[in-house]
Amino acid sequence: MASQNRSYEKKKLLGQVYTPLHIVQKILTHCGFYNLSPAPITILDPACGDGRFLVPIAEYLIQNSPADQLSERLGKIEGWDIDPEAIKSCRKNLDHLVADLGLEIQWKLEICDALKQRDSGRKFDLIVGNPPYIRIQHLPEEQRKYIQKEYSFCQSGSTDAFVAFFELASELLTENGHCGFITPNSYLTSETGRALRSYFECNQNLLLLTNFAHFSVFKGTSTYAAVTIFGKIKNDAFFFEQCRTSDFQYNGRNVSYSELRENQPWHLAPEVSQEIAGERLGDICKISVGVTTLADPYYLFSIISKNDDLVYARNKNGMEVYLEKAILKPIVKGSKLKTSQDPITEYILFPYKTDESGKQRIIPQDELESKFPETFSYFLKVKPALDRRDNGKPNAVAWYAFGRSQSLDSSFGKKIIFSPMNLSPNFVLHENEEATVYSGYFIKYDGDYETLLTQLNSQRMADFIAVAGRDFQGGYKGYNKKAIENFVITKD
Ligand SMILES: C[S@@+](CC[C@H](N)C(=O)[O-])C[C@H]1O[C@@H](n2cnc3c(N)ncnc32)[C@H](O)[C@@H]1O
Repeated sequence: MASQNRSYEKKKLLGQVYTPLHIVQKILTHCGFYNLSPAPITILDPACGDGRFLVPIAEYLIQNSPADQLSERLGKIEGWDIDPEAIKSCRKNLDHLVADLGLEIQWKLEICDALKQRDSGRKFDLIVGNPPYIRIQHLPEEQRKYIQKEYSFCQSGSTDAFVAFFELASELLTENGHCGFITPNSYLTSETGRALRSYFECNQNLLLLTNFAHFSVFKGTSTYAAVTIFGKIKNDAFFFEQCRTSDFQYNGRNVSYSELRENQPWHLAPEVSQEIAGERLGDICKISVGVTTLADPYYLFSIISKNDDLVYARNKNGMEVYLEKAILKPIVKGSKLKTSQDPITEYILFPYKTDESGKQRIIPQDELESKFPETFSYFLKVKPALDRRDNGKPNAVAWYAFGRSQSLDSSFGKKIIFSPMNLSPNFVLHENEEATVYSGYFIKYDGDYETLLTQLNSQRMADFIAVAGRDFQGGYKGYNKKAIENFVITKD
């Protein structure tokens, strides 16, 4: 068990998730490897593992090289890995290939940190691989500092080792060389990927981009992958394709660099998007995130029984208490809401009252104690848990206030509620004006809600989110505020 744990830890720390053969072949095809040039080419996998790329490369060379050139060609294959065991397995797998041919090849396999080889002066015609995906905060401190100092692609967002491998490859490629990597697709839209996107935008050197969206390339992981093939030669366009089926069928088209807006995420679609006349949702509505207590188990209740002024209620931790009815508000969980008919089953302890201007203000402690004694005594019982919020930082409003003060005023009244993740558009009109929202978003609109709702729940929204939304397991798409704001609402 202990050794299993150790190997799991190592797998995670070194980003050891190995590549399936069909992906290796796809990358090699699009890098032009199978159209071998007569002259031997230099080949590198900078994070070669046990040789998932290098073994099929060597196999192909063995089958397709003139006998007198084979040793020279095989001698130009190079593999690096930080893990000695990976290099050992890689050597064994490569040796196995040539054993029957009576050849002995001095494989150029090196145990090293690839990211420190950048100034080695070596250049390669073909660089391929599946570089490690390790968030910067999970790297050893020395390596983390080194990457942040030396790799300009790694200055923005919470960066990842695979981003540095792209920069490394851009340095090590020959002028006519090609690089093909499989990596997380997150760089297409994330802050972390901004500098990498900008590198491709400036150099216009992409050849192929394949987005696998939510189709799983690596069994048993939740990585959403992309294949990126690039060189050094400038082009006006590149081929973009999106995986459409679990047996890896693709739809694609040429994307012109003029379609990419500088410094913006790449929300690329395999079909050309029609320009639609209308207004951005974000310009005609207010989209907000629900209320945030930072201690939901202590603020959310189901009601067991009620009398005139008091209710007997159970909080999410199973604690049963009496509370004053007037301090509870009905609340809807945005991420669970399915239809406008869903009954309200939850109530939130809402220690606020409206002032003369209609704004929600915290009820002062002495007033809370005198007007809501049952509630005040409950708050005192759970105070230690409330005080632990925000790492123990005192709440500037009151110790019993919500952890955040967003949406206190706006979340009541008629609104459209939606979940941050869904399989298909599900925007629900909620007409109970007394109810507030948590764990989801809501939209406030001055126009006709029903007309708006028709467009929000349309196929056009599903198509929009298919491109603009993040991928989650099981085909779920992210419906986040930033993406939804850009949806165009038409006049009719
Ligand atoms: C995702 S695996 C890919 C292995 C192989 N290329 C494949 O496609 O199956 C990443 C590999 O990177 C190696 N690795 C992690 N950090 C590295 C570094 N800084 N330099 C070189 N190799 C590294 C790991 O040991 C692991 O074998």
